[in-house]
Amino acid sequence: MLRANVLWLTEACRHYCQKTPRKLRICEAISSLEVGTKIKVQGWVRSVRPQKENLFLHVNDGSSLQSLQVVASSELNHRLLTFGSAVEISGSLLKSPSRKQEVELHADQIDVVGECNPVDFPFKIKEKHGLEYIRQFPHLRCRTNAFSSLLRIRSEATTAIHEYFKEKGFIQIHTPVLTSNDCEGAGELFQVEPAGQQKNRDEEGHQHFFSVPTYLTVSGQLHLEVMAGAFPGVYTFGPTFRAEHSQSRRHLAEFYMVEAEVPFTQSLEDLMKVMEDLFRSTTEHLLAQCPEDVALCHKQVSPGHRDNVDLMMKKSFNVITYTEAINILNSSSKTFAFKTDWGCDLQTEHEKYLVKHCGDLPLFVTDYPYALKPFYARDNLDQPLHTAAAVDLLVPGVGEMCGGSLREERLDLLKARLRQAGLDETYGWYLDLRRFGSVPHGGFGMGFERYLQCVLGVDNIKDVIPFPRYSRSCLL
Ligand code: 4AD
Ligand code: MG
Repeated sequence: MLRANVLWLTEACRHYCQKTPRKLRICEAISSLEVGTKIKVQGWVRSVRPQKENLFLHVNDGSSLQSLQVVASSELNHRLLTFGSAVEISGSLLKSPSRKQEVELHADQIDVVGECNPVDFPFKIKEKHGLEYIRQFPHLRCRTNAFSSLLRIRSEATTAIHEYFKEKGFIQIHTPVLTSNDCEGAGELFQVEPAGQQKNRDEEGHQHFFSVPTYLTVSGQLHLEVMAGAFPGVYTFGPTFRAEHSQSRRHLAEFYMVEAEVPFTQSLEDLMKVMEDLFRSTTEHLLAQCPEDVALCHKQVSPGHRDNVDLMMKKSFNVITYTEAINILNSSSKTFAFKTDWGCDLQTEHEKYLVKHCGDLPLFVTDYPYALKPFYARDNLDQPLHTAAAVDLLVPGVGEMCGGSLREERLDLLKARLRQAGLDETYGWYLDLRRFGSVPHGGFGMGFERYLQCVLGVDNIKDVIPFPRYSRSCLL
């Protein structure tokens, strides 16, 4: 009896499976070897070509750059079947007679799930829209090939970064977004209060939600330093906020930063190795896992850029000190808009010049003036040029991509510096880290969007983040 029931059930399942088309993502359908099977796909129409007897469509669902060719009898054509409309199509997956694709879907049924008026839709069939044009439509630009490629690459790069740190034995820490620290001391803070209570800030009544003024994080570093006191290596990768008024092509008010902190290290070389390895392994992963998307970006957005990437992957990164950098700038015949005296901060124009001068390869600049760096940077105790053990990684086309340093682990020196800055009470807990089981350590932060700009050759940072936030921008 039981056996008869099982057989009946198996037969019913087989019948159901044959009748009911299997739903496939388009990347699966395109690479499917199960020619002849009934399938269903869902996506958005990228081209419509009606012919006398047949209708040809290309449908894309964002699972890859490639679209699936659909062939249907002209009877299935419909006035709502337009460029940009959302469709659900069932039919048989068959070998394609054309060399352009392996398989095509012969449709039995086409349903328009969501119509799209091609006159009003800002993107037009067969037109190549530039990144600047599509940036005007942050809610729609993911429907274009170029931006959906960029987003798939961004997603894959995120995976690659987590894989790199996992492989190296780093522990991921979710550092807080709300904090009372101004880690960088640059004052580019967004203050946070419950809506409607802003007026009560800092007045006698102490109406703060927390008992201290609270900001969106400018860096997870100090929280990572806490954790570097208990693990072999820690990292964080999350949104970071800076009230930057700059309208530049490399600054955002909300961006993603990858930060790592390494205990038991006394050399900038150790940190530089992690930065270089992270860059190489993430880029290798992208070139291997999304070659079509990367190729499309290089072709449409930055022709010729692939050669630059290959060069960066082939050659070692260069290293110079800040003092050498200043000497290079001062002996150049180029006139810079900003000063290049020893002690000045390096501006984008200086960074780009230095990178070019040193062979158009990523360039580490080490040992910056002590006075330029935040309180946590380790004093090199040198004279007469007083420097800190800090390092920036500058990359072609972008300028600064990473910033890092050894941290001041010597309690007396750190105390003195905090006292000088009037911060010794605020950072009492930070001093504790140097009191209990303190070790020499260091770390860095890499701007994730700047990394993507560098590898993809994208000029404007707003084009490598799904929803850019910058000064005076409107928010979705
Ligand atoms: O050099 P920064 O300010 O370093 C820090 O915040 C350290 N506390 C990091 C650490 O040691 N854990 O920022 C690191 C990187 C920069 O090199 C840059 O790539 C990126 O973050 N960055 C920005 N990216 C986009 N928009 C902005 N406004 C950025 N500010 C910094
Ligand atoms: Mg910096």
